[in-house]
Amino acid sequence: MKTETNITVESPGRINLIGEHVDYNGGFVLPASINKKIIIEFNTLSGNECYIESKTVKKSFSLNLKKISKSKIQWENYIIGVLYNLIITRKFKIKAFNCTIKSNLPIGAGISSSSSLICGLISGFNYLNNLKLDHNEIVDIVSDVEHNFIGLMGGIMDQFTIVNGKKNKLILLNCQNRSFQYINSNFSPYKIVLINTNVEHNLANSSYNQRVKECNEALNIINKDYKKYNYLVDVEEEVLNEFKNTLKEKVFNRALFVVQENKRTLDSANKISESKLKDFGKLMYKSHFGLKNLYEVSCKELDFLVDFTIDYKEIIGSRMMGGGFGGCTINLIKEDFVEDFIKLVSKAYSNKFNIKLDAIHVNIDSGVTVKNN
Ligand code: GLA
Repeated sequence: MKTETNITVESPGRINLIGEHVDYNGGFVLPASINKKIIIEFNTLSGNECYIESKTVKKSFSLNLKKISKSKIQWENYIIGVLYNLIITRKFKIKAFNCTIKSNLPIGAGISSSSSLICGLISGFNYLNNLKLDHNEIVDIVSDVEHNFIGLMGGIMDQFTIVNGKKNKLILLNCQNRSFQYINSNFSPYKIVLINTNVEHNLANSSYNQRVKECNEALNIINKDYKKYNYLVDVEEEVLNEFKNTLKEKVFNRALFVVQENKRTLDSANKISESKLKDFGKLMYKSHFGLKNLYEVSCKELDFLVDFTIDYKEIIGSRMMGGGFGGCTINLIKEDFVEDFIKLVSKAYSNKFNIKLDAIHVNIDSGVTVKNN
């Protein structure tokens, strides 16, 4: 076996300051890539046999490039899905490879380890095979793999952030047309701290897909009368209110959340740019209570963590982050209170649920990078 090229890909996770569950509804989101990453070492091989090992999930498998088909093992489909898209759908010629995956990005924590892995793999194949895929094509391939191989009907926020992320910059992204701007992320004297519930409720994928369906249902019913809205976020709140008795209560609540959350994201971008951090923090709490009461994607562990922050003046904002049903909260905490807070909340959480939480300190860092070794 002759080893040809040897590269290292670093693919980050992402946080999202605000704008949850609006990406697939054509809304604005405010994410950033972080310094927790998946690291993939690749080398090309001759022949068609490829070897993949994950030190993180402690699994390995081999595959033949001429026989690409879906696996019964979900984890393998991250790699197979990417190869399927490149080789079968896009007709690229891909060299055989050996790859080893390591990570300091927690899995199932709502910080997008899944999109990070897929983005890292595509970026590696792009480099090794000189495919000349641009960022938008990478975003599309990730969506294809998530929709068709992983079974999550996710939006574009995660992959867009992972490929376009920049050190110390938030991305204000319009998910309708992918236009975006970078916003300085100066939160001093507050720090961004994630608190991982360390729970992942197993209906997360199907409940997520259910929300996507409910939003489409709302849009279709509204368009029977209005025939003009391409996305749910475009429906004005007054128009939505006309449908309060027509839409099922649940579906109305989903739509109301989406329309309000989209406005909150735009307000938040302004507040952060104007350094009105306390105002932004209030929007974070509103976002959480919308996700909990209207969109119903929170869980008791996340609610406990958010409620626990409310009495501390050193904490200006807290909310669940990502798809929900477990994972992390994102918090803005006065720098000199962070350690004390972690001690207090760890104790209270463990007393309540008998689960150990993890505090994750994050810095905003660059998007995916490829290094030729
Ligand atoms: C997951 C999805 C994203 C987005 C968030 C919720 O992370 O992959 O596309 O919908 O949930 O904001």
